[in-house]
Amino acid sequence: MRQRTLCYLDNNATTQVAPEVVDAMVPFFKQHWGNPSSAYSFGHNVAKELDKARASVAELIKADPREIIFTSCGTESNNSAIHSALVTHPEKRHVLMTMVEHSANIKFGDYLKKHRYEVSFLPVESDGGLDLHLLESSIRPDTAIVSVMWANNETGVLFPIEEVAALCRSKGVLFHTDAVQVPGKLNIDVKELGVDFLSLSAHKLHAPKGIGLLYVKRRTKYHPYIIGGGQERGRRGGTENVPYIVAFGRAAELAMESCKDENTRVRALRDKLENGILKGIEGTSRNGAKEPRLPNTSNIAFEGVEAEGILLLLDEAGICASSGSACTTGSLDPSHVLLAMGLSLSRARGSVRFSLGRYNTEQDVEHALQVLPGIISKLRASTPVETKSSPASPMPQEV
Ligand SMILES: Cc1ncc(COP(=O)(O)O)c(C=O)c1O
Repeated sequence: MRQRTLCYLDNNATTQVAPEVVDAMVPFFKQHWGNPSSAYSFGHNVAKELDKARASVAELIKADPREIIFTSCGTESNNSAIHSALVTHPEKRHVLMTMVEHSANIKFGDYLKKHRYEVSFLPVESDGGLDLHLLESSIRPDTAIVSVMWANNETGVLFPIEEVAALCRSKGVLFHTDAVQVPGKLNIDVKELGVDFLSLSAHKLHAPKGIGLLYVKRRTKYHPYIIGGGQERGRRGGTENVPYIVAFGRAAELAMESCKDENTRVRALRDKLENGILKGIEGTSRNGAKEPRLPNTSNIAFEGVEAEGILLLLDEAGICASSGSACTTGSLDPSHVLLAMGLSLSRARGSVRFSLGRYNTEQDVEHALQVLPGIISKLRASTPVETKSSPASPMPQEV
């Protein structure tokens, strides 16, 4: 089979591991493979590298290294924050989140509901924005924690996290934010944000999959989610995944360096792609507010076509994009995020997310703009689908 060049426009799903990151982690497989908890220097030396990586990721979010807990992924970080709030405040059995959170939160919320907790899922506005008055009035005396994502992985829409954190503080409620899509795209300063918990996942910033972190503000009561050895100062059992933690540290350094590029060059590429589609292909529109939004993400509705068909033909042209989040593809269910924004079923089903990143070039955007019009006309000609359908009811959960 002829090898074609990959045009990867799905950086919100995962990112290519940076060569610098690979170089940094390889010695921890080959030479420095000791256990950081061991009582001899072969282990101590590894522990020192772990400390360095912890300092780098702490610097990325302007935290104290002691406020970082390494986890296995963003999902574990999200689950851990909510779990800790419920365990440390047993008298409070209510959790508040939005309907557009990642399934790492939504599914955990569903699980909690089955175990006699109360979980409210806040609706969002048609542009994906959050109604702060509604949020405020939904916080109850028995709310243990509010969890609101910073950047939506499907639309890129940003929530006003600083304001949400201030609101929660004024009500004496813990606040967690899922910031998995943010590093390298926006500057993060946990002190300015005023959050109690914040989740990150390394594979969204050019490090391997399977490593994440949870920031826990100093003096916040914390109960471990994974119970075992005394690793992570007793806050997460399990021998540390040293090579991946080192990789995360190096990726954090690179993310701090590339934030400017993301907001200039990558933003310009995203805008070129988005404007090219909206102007060049009839019956297209953007899902979600233009601003405030991540600089790399564009979610486009193509009237009268199914995203599945678009993605298939894009794939044949060597282009990777997605509909909804990667974790839910494989099912034909339309995105819960787009439905929560009030999109009709047909519009949600015809929506594609393009997410750019560090390694994308002008050529990638030009290639996509060149092939997309033909793909859409072909699909429109061959598969007429119902374009006018009544608005779908979003997720069943109500506030
Ligand atoms: C916003 C958001 N939160 C959480 C996650 C889950 O992260 P992980 O894949 O590391 O579990 C993702 C991954 O797609 C995400 O985009």
